[in-house]
Amino acid sequence: MRRSLKDLLLNEDQRNQMRKAGRFNAQLLDFLRPHVKAGMTTEAIDKLCHDYTRDHGHIPAPLNYHGFPKSCCTSVNEVICHGIPDSYRLKDGDIVNVDITSIVDGWFGDQSETFLIGEVSDEARKVTQCAFDSLYKAIHAISPGSMITEIGHAIVDEANQYGFGVVREYVGHGLGTEFHQEPSIPHYPDPRFNRVSLEPGICFTIEPMINIGRYQGIVDPLDNWTVRTIDGKLSAQFEHTLLMTENGPEILTTTEHGPKFGHQF
Ligand code: MF3
Ligand code: CO
Ligand code: CO
Repeated sequence: MRRSLKDLLLNEDQRNQMRKAGRFNAQLLDFLRPHVKAGMTTEAIDKLCHDYTRDHGHIPAPLNYHGFPKSCCTSVNEVICHGIPDSYRLKDGDIVNVDITSIVDGWFGDQSETFLIGEVSDEARKVTQCAFDSLYKAIHAISPGSMITEIGHAIVDEANQYGFGVVREYVGHGLGTEFHQEPSIPHYPDPRFNRVSLEPGICFTIEPMINIGRYQGIVDPLDNWTVRTIDGKLSAQFEHTLLMTENGPEILTTTEHGPKFGHQF
């Protein structure tokens, strides 16, 4: 029997645990941000992520998750998600999504940001802007009791203004004491979620992946992780962990640094 979403609603103590995990994860991203630049290898970013997390007594959730070999995901250019940090050196014109997840006292924080490396093409900037704005449109579209599909409507509306594709195969997810739990959070209006509502106490991610071209992806058969756009065109993503409160959604993975609502890339 499917666990009811009711069992996933957090009390005030549990909410504070999630706030703490989200804040730590956001501080980790603040620490990484200045290092995500031309000349850095993605595995150097991974090492910084791993060591910072460990030095603070926490656990990088991706490491060994279903066999994932590194502590964060670095998805460059046409990589939609789950890129494995390696010896690739970031260069001017690249876009790279860094997706980090920490376990703090058993509770998870999960977020990602797409970075523009040096001067990038108009297209690269646009797809990054679209992914960022669509995340905030989705956050602003929901309130206590909203249906999960309102998230997808907001994201697809934004992507449609550019003619960009919204990835369907990978979705946001509930988050708490597990990495991926219910509910699923599709970034398009999947009718199966028409009547699933977001009640105060639920924690979840929104993490739209936006493609310049077709929305379909293909998993690299050599590593079984890296997901690339089927047409080789660029893809961008942003992710936050959210807590639905009685007063609306609270972004848990944020500090006073980093791009905020309205940011122009
Ligand atoms: N952080 C990703 C997410 O947002 C999941 C990465 S799973 C990994 O859900 F194994 F690739 F790390
Ligand atoms: Co996530
Ligand atoms: Co993530």
